[in-house]
Amino acid sequence: MAGYLVDDTRKVTTHRLYEMKQSGKKIAMLTSYDYSMARIVDGAGVDVILVGDSASNTMAGNVTTLPITLDQMIYHARSVVRGVTRALVVCDMPFGTYQIDPQDAARNAVRIMQETGCDALKLEGGVEILPAVKLILDAGIPVMGHLGLTPQSINKFGTYAVRAREEAEAAKLRSDAVALAEVGCFAIVLEKIPAVLAAEVTKSVDVPIIGIGAGGACDGQVLVVHDMLGMNKGFSPKFLRRYADLNEVMTDAIGNYVTDVKSGDFPNADEQY
Ligand code: KIV
Repeated sequence: MAGYLVDDTRKVTTHRLYEMKQSGKKIAMLTSYDYSMARIVDGAGVDVILVGDSASNTMAGNVTTLPITLDQMIYHARSVVRGVTRALVVCDMPFGTYQIDPQDAARNAVRIMQETGCDALKLEGGVEILPAVKLILDAGIPVMGHLGLTPQSINKFGTYAVRAREEAEAAKLRSDAVALAEVGCFAIVLEKIPAVLAAEVTKSVDVPIIGIGAGGACDGQVLVVHDMLGMNKGFSPKFLRRYADLNEVMTDAIGNYVTDVKSGDFPNADEQY
């Protein structure tokens, strides 16, 4: 049953992801933000580990992804890289580090690569960030795009509802995906858009399309690891499949520990020196 029985234990590369798309092999991607989780996620056979700026929500308790800083993302990515041997590690460029000035974007991108040892970067947006994407690619850094519901723009959207239902936004998304693929992005995440649109985009470009809330026709899927493990109580969008209820498992375990300490049952004679 377990996905960790992968036949190919070589380090995953951007080229291999391209080959997976060509041969119709699906790509499994999950987030991680720390060493211990990354070791488990990598050992279970996930192909791509995203050090998502969703760390702002899951690790820091912020409402949006906007507050997380470059230094904080570097800390998370460096910790993840230490725990990974097989998966391709992609780090999100945080809000404000690439949208203003392409030169700054390239400098920040180089800093993340040098200080973390990650394999690639992810940036949110379409043609408006193309100059930054080009400069980062020119520096030899692989870039993953991200279109659809791009959480760094949540204040502009004003809602977490499905994006690109209207034809004008769908048309822009289609041309953004082509532009990102043509400029040299190695993959593109499509978040929370109609499955039919995601299927169309997946067919129209050579690069792997990774979906989250974008249907089953994408070349791969990504989820936030805390969500799929059921650690994020109360968060249950339609696209999320829960593979465990760690909230309950952990609460039970910790509750039992509290009971045992208070009753004097822990530690027992075998658990001391
Ligand atoms: O930050 C993140 O976790 C992401 C995924 C939801 C794709 O960007």
